[in-house]
Amino acid sequence: MVTKIAIFASGTGTNFSALHQAIINQKLPAKISLVVVDQPNAPVIAKAQALGIPVFIVNYRAYAEKKLAELAIIEQLNLHRVTLILLAGYMRILTPTLITAYPNQIINIHPALLPNFPGRHGILDAYQANVKLTGVTVHYVDTGIDTGTIIQQMTVPRLATDTLADLEKRIHAAEHQLYPAVLAKLLSEE
Ligand code: GAR
Repeated sequence: MVTKIAIFASGTGTNFSALHQAIINQKLPAKISLVVVDQPNAPVIAKAQALGIPVFIVNYRAYAEKKLAELAIIEQLNLHRVTLILLAGYMRILTPTLITAYPNQIINIHPALLPNFPGRHGILDAYQANVKLTGVTVHYVDTGIDTGTIIQQMTVPRLATDTLADLEKRIHAAEHQLYPAVLAKLLSEE
């Protein structure tokens, strides 16, 4: 059975592309039925549209409260019959409105070894802390900031000679490997 997924993103969309590629390569029995984006100029929008994937751009400021924005998102998810949500660089905290609508069906990727370095700047924070080892975490989403149950992690060494850009490159490469692999495993267990 093909699982209909929605990818939530705010930026470049390299994880979106990696997941899409894994589907094309038949590594994932899934279909990206919708991309939800909260930033109207995010490059991920053009990437999805070029592939003919529907995009819902949600302008949180147009709603009196976050809950209403999430209800609008849920309406779109229902319309596209989405059963699994993958956050891929979505820089917003979800509220119980969305989380309870998709229990254990919302997953996130974070560019650090949680519980270390949660938040928006996981790579930079680990770099500045001079850790020798950092990595990538795939986890279920709860209402906290990168606090949900961890599904799988992959370590990434930080070399003494690394610039921040070097480390970012290695982290992103790990993400593009780990996210599709974790998903393939989860979907095969369903
Ligand atoms: C990724 O590195 C992802 O782990 C991070 O945003 C980037 C999005 O890149 N997410 C977080 O920091 C969440 N706390 P992408 O748009 O190229 O996929």
